[in-house]
Amino acid sequence: MQEKFILDVCCGGRMFWENKNHPNTIYQDIREDVLPLKEQYGMNFSVEPDVIGDFRKMVFEDKKFKLVIFDPPHLMLNKTAWMAKKYGTIKDTDFEADLQAGFKECWRVLDDYGTLIFKWNDQSVAIEKVKPFFPDKPIIFNRIGTKGKSTYWFVFMKIPKSKEQLIALNQNSPTASSDEEELISVNRDANASPNFAKGETSVNSNIKLNSQVLLQARCNLK
Ligand SMILES: C[S@@+](CC[C@H](N)C(=O)[O-])C[C@H]1O[C@@H](n2cnc3c(N)ncnc32)[C@H](O)[C@@H]1O
Repeated sequence: MQEKFILDVCCGGRMFWENKNHPNTIYQDIREDVLPLKEQYGMNFSVEPDVIGDFRKMVFEDKKFKLVIFDPPHLMLNKTAWMAKKYGTIKDTDFEADLQAGFKECWRVLDDYGTLIFKWNDQSVAIEKVKPFFPDKPIIFNRIGTKGKSTYWFVFMKIPKSKEQLIALNQNSPTASSDEEELISVNRDANASPNFAKGETSVNSNIKLNSQVLLQARCNLK
């Protein structure tokens, strides 16, 4: 069997794939579906993933893939709409939480120096609302179309951070990767009491503790 080092986390009908059965790829989607369109269009539209899975919580191990492709639903359409059947819909979903979880999972399963490709169309939700969930600054991006009707492509690379970058990152916004979270939970137990006065449980002290533990975890990862 061919080695699988590419993951399409929500492959749909594999419309943008040059080779729709790329031998090194795992195609995942949350559903399996065949839309019987043969009479109308000469062919059916089908979603036939290798793995039925949820990009918000994936079954794959950390750093398994060299290339991860993330093209989540982006249109706010009724479930019965034709486009919704084909591409999914974000109507009646907590799409912000879903995107946040999706990016986190994509980053987790991506290997160091691996590439993440993200596609978004801003017809229903502006790209600025999505950017806060990005796992890092993109390396390049491309916009096709006019504002409000644009398709964006972003390319990220998971470049491991230096200690200095981690310290700066931690000072600005302490969001931890899964590796870091694991170390945090270990270190939190080890460090909880010595850093703070007995019984200190205010929100501020927790933030301070989390920041210190996160920083330590990040340094330990290096
Ligand atoms: C925009 S379409 C993908 C189109 C695909 N890139 C193509 O080339 O045809 C989005 C897909 O995400 C799937 N999807 C929605 N929520 C998902 C989830 N939580 N996990 C995995 N797939 C999901 C939908 O079923 C839909 O097929």
